[in-house]
Parts: sequence; structure tokens; C-alpha cells
Amino acid sequence: MRLTRLTASGVRNLAPLELRPGPALNLVLGPNGAGKTSLLEAIHLLAYGRSFRGRVRDGLIRTGNEVLEVFAEWEEPDGVHRKAGLRHSGQAWTGRLDGESVQHLGDLCAALAAVSFEPGSHTLVTGGAEARRRYLDWGLFHVERGDNPFQPVWRRYARALKQRNALLKQRAAHGQLEAWDAELAAAAEHLDLQRRAYVERLRPRFRAISRDLLPQLGEGNLHYRSGWRREQLSLADALLLARERDLATGFTSVGPHRADWRVEHDTRPAGEALSRGQAKLTALACLLAQAEDFADRRHHWPVFLLDDLASELDRPHQQRLLERLRESGAQVFVTGTESPPALAEAGWTPVMFHVERGDVSPTAGTPGAHGG
Ligand SMILES: Nc1ncnc2c1ncn2[C@@H]1O[C@H](COP(=O)(O)OP(=O)(O)OP(=O)(O)O)[C@@H](O)[C@H]1O
Ligand SMILES: [Mg+2]
Repeated sequence: MRLTRLTASGVRNLAPLELRPGPALNLVLGPNGAGKTSLLEAIHLLAYGRSFRGRVRDGLIRTGNEVLEVFAEWEEPDGVHRKAGLRHSGQAWTGRLDGESVQHLGDLCAALAAVSFEPGSHTLVTGGAEARRRYLDWGLFHVERGDNPFQPVWRRYARALKQRNALLKQRAAHGQLEAWDAELAAAAEHLDLQRRAYVERLRPRFRAISRDLLPQLGEGNLHYRSGWRREQLSLADALLLARERDLATGFTSVGPHRADWRVEHDTRPAGEALSRGQAKLTALACLLAQAEDFADRRHHWPVFLLDDLASELDRPHQQRLLERLRESGAQVFVTGTESPPALAEAGWTPVMFHVERGDVSPTAGTPGAHGG
């Protein structure tokens, strides 16, 4: 998938912009605070409905603006052209996909696939479970379509959970709860099976990439957890057991919304912390495994957004990553205050953009200057 045109307005410090990225490597350079990360956030927003630096209402909309808008056109294999736009007012959003309004933000996010690796990415490994669940669901949203689509399964579960939590808060009668427990358990079954199978599928890819990026940690592994003691009891039973407690707290304490997964390495005893750099590389291995799986299913690579690459990875790792991405044929956006040293070694000639005080422009003398 390759972005061919991007417009954005109202995103952080960025002036309204129109960009025609190159099909392979795009290098976005500029001083600190210029707006480089903000540019990647605009793309990320369209692909995820949120920023990697938090929700839209946490300061993503440019101060003084009422709304932000992002619009992108991209190409998929077989010459398929697509376009999507998102408008966000801080409370409400509207989305359009291929010229039509969309009802669910998820429809938009399931269309454009982007993978972001940025200074906060290590939290995928070291942070809270929510990001790890989002990671699984992102993959499933994109690869499980056709006969076994993930989106309706996810939506059915989310709806049932919302209903049950609402009833818990009203301290509803047990009879009322029973109907939603059954619905929740049924929806959970599918959701859990799909997530579990997905982790199984990612495991060998993760291992191979981890061997390449982090050989010193030994063999890597991914472990999945359902969100209740699945080996011992059905979710219906777990919900029944938890009912009194859930009524007291007004919140469902067991189920796929509490699922998680973790990474383990042979040489590292459980509980021994990874260094920040190791956590970053581990997260990167997870992201690459997911992108490979995506490419296997969808026959093209997601767009890769690498924020501040040179300060995130040492030079050999920058080079390995860039070589991998180059071979994959992915469209890549790299930001930095300077061109990453590994770029020349990876033998990749980028299309360049310069960002200065919120203005993004193609750098004269590079292919980017002719496209727009
Ligand atoms: N809602 C907002 N409205 C206007 N400006 C904002 C908003 N949110 C953030 N900014 C500003 O946008 C500027 C650009 O931030 P950004 O993180 O994109 O810079 P950057 O080029 O990635 O810098 P660095 O090299 O330090 O990572 C910053 O000066 C920041 O304070
Ligand atoms: Mg930045």
C-alpha cells in the first residue's frame, strides 16, 4: 500500500499541507519542534483513529483550530486506487472512504494500514496490556476479512460488554444479567479463538526476526492469555463466579477485554527487565512480524512510519531495519533532524521533505520536489 497524496489541516503545529510522497523511502528532516512527528501522527490518525501520542482530544488539534482534517489517497496492488478522509472536532468525527460516508471509524481504520515505530514504541513490550490488545486487534482487523471477518466479532463483544457493564452499574437483577452473560460468553469465544490463533501464527515470524535483531537474548517466544482462566473454566462460568464482585465494582472483571500477551526470551529469566533499547527492538520485532503476516495475507506491505529513527536505534540496527524494509517493497517514512547514517549503507535513495515551523515542503533537487 502506497500513499500517493496526503493533505492535512489543524494537526498540532502544522500549516495546512499537501504532500505527494514517493513510492519507497520518504525522508522527513527538520529541526526539533518543526512538526516531523506531527506529520507522521496525521497518517497514523487515519490508520488508527487515534494518535500514537494519545487521543485526539489530548492536544492533537492545532491550538485555535476547531477541527482537524486528514485526507489520503493510496494505491493497492493491481492498480486499485483508494481514498479516505477523517474530520475530527475533538468530540465528534466524520469519515469518508472511497467517496462514501462511513458509519464506524473502524471501517476507515481497516482500510489504510500503517505501522508506526516511534520513541514510545517500547511500551508495547513494557507498558500496559491495552496497547498489546490493540496490537492483536489491529492485525486481525486487517487480515481476517472474507469468510472469517474479525470486525463483527469484535463489535459484538464490545456491545455485549458495554451492556453488561451498564447493567452492573444499575445493580440489575441476576435474571437480567444472565442474558448478557450468555451473549458475552458467546462473542468472547470467537474473539478469543481468533486472537489465540493469530498469536500462534505470529510466533515463528517473531522468532526469526528476533533472532536477527536480538540474537544475544536467545530464542524468543510469544505467550497469549485469554483474560480469564480458560484452561479451568468457560467464560460463562467465570462471569457467574465474578458476578457479585462485578456488581460491587460496576465493571466486568473477566473476559477478552482483559486479555494480554507477553514476550519471553530463553536467556532472560521471567521478570528480568529488558534494557530500553532491547525493549524497543523487541517491539520492533513484534511490529515486523505483524507486517510480514499482513503482507502474506494481503499481498502488500503496510506503510511504515519510523519516527526519529536515528535516535531510536543504533547504526547496525537502523541498517538491518532499512534493508529489510527495502527488500519488502514497503513505502516508508523516516523522520529525523539529520539523515540517518545507515541510509547510505542501506543503499536507499530517499524522496526528501523539509519541515520548518510547521511548513512541510519537498526538498529541492529530489524527486519529491517534482511530484507535487
Ligand atoms: N495542539 C497544538 N497546536 C499547536 N502546536 C502544537 C500542538 N501540539 C503540539 N504543538 C507543537 O508542535 C510542534 C511540533 O511538534 P513535533 O513533535 O511534531 O516536532 P518534531 O519536529 O517531531 O520535533 P522533535 O525533533 O523534537 O521530535 C511543537 O513545537 C509542539 O509544541
Ligand atoms: Mg519528533
